[in-house]
Amino acid sequence: MRDQAEALRKMVRKQEISTPRIIAITSGKGGVGKTNLSVNLSLALVQMGYRVALLDVDLGLANADIVLGVSPEYNLSHVLRGEKTINDIIVEGPLGLKVLAGGSGVYDMANLNGWRLEAFANSIEQLNRDFDFVILDTGGGIHRNVLSFVLATTEVIVVTTPEPTAITDAYGIIKVIYQKNPHSQINLVVNMAHSPGEAEEAANKLNSVLQQFVNKQVTYLGYVLFDQHVSKAVADQLPVIIAHPSSMTSRSIQRIARFLAGDETSSSTPNNGFKKFFNRVYDLLRI
Ligand SMILES: Nc1ncnc2c1ncn2[C@@H]1O[C@H](COP(=O)(O)OP(=O)(O)OP(=O)(O)O)[C@@H](O)[C@H]1O
Ligand SMILES: [Mg+2]
Repeated sequence: MRDQAEALRKMVRKQEISTPRIIAITSGKGGVGKTNLSVNLSLALVQMGYRVALLDVDLGLANADIVLGVSPEYNLSHVLRGEKTINDIIVEGPLGLKVLAGGSGVYDMANLNGWRLEAFANSIEQLNRDFDFVILDTGGGIHRNVLSFVLATTEVIVVTTPEPTAITDAYGIIKVIYQKNPHSQINLVVNMAHSPGEAEEAANKLNSVLQQFVNKQVTYLGYVLFDQHVSKAVADQLPVIIAHPSSMTSRSIQRIARFLAGDETSSSTPNNGFKKFFNRVYDLLRI
């Protein structure tokens, strides 16, 4: 009896280990660098040997593909409509990073009927075996559609710049996430800082306000300095980590990737994989 229970526990553990960490990258304010971080962090994790999928669920200008220089022909909405399989929409980006475009699929999902959702959820379940990390590039703000993706996962990276307006908006989104998902693991990246000190000061300020009003803090993952290489790389449609591998930005992002990958508390958080994730997105979209 005990052996059986132990075997079952082992099986469950094995299943947990084989599901990817699904990490949503979001912000309060727009234009703070989510897409750049999503793309380059994904690539940094690939460089470390992880199997990574980047899912663009930005509803405005879905632009991870532009930064990457890849152009997916199909997106999630084709899968939801049953016209394409999930494998048809996966595009291979630089270094073997897999890219999935969300497109208008995010809106379509709210209108699915139960069986379509079930068929969709089953079809994506197979991806659990293929990836160690799934990075979601979301649009910014407290828009319901964006929030559904952010709240459907337990790991979030909030991006802010050191500007007071961006920090205030970051505070706003973090507060909402903690209110709805008290067990969320929320990390912070300060982008476009002019010095490490400025970034740290911004993170400390945010954490002290969070401590005071929400009684919680976020984990400071690190900073990315303001760097001309980034806009240049974007203009060239090349991720900075590939175009300028030894730039300060690339090294900062690699440091953030190492921190994230080595975070044992997050990686041991039970994660139920793609099917549960999309079921939660669906439920949240319909509230
Ligand atoms: N560290 C940086 N240094 C200099 N420029 C940067 C940096 N990070 C991002 N940028 C620039 O800032 C702009 C916005 O970046 P990005 O598109 O990644 O933001 P976003 O948060 O995804 O925006 P949106 O809210 O519209 O999705 C881009 O032009 C990008 O090149
Ligand atoms: Mg973006």
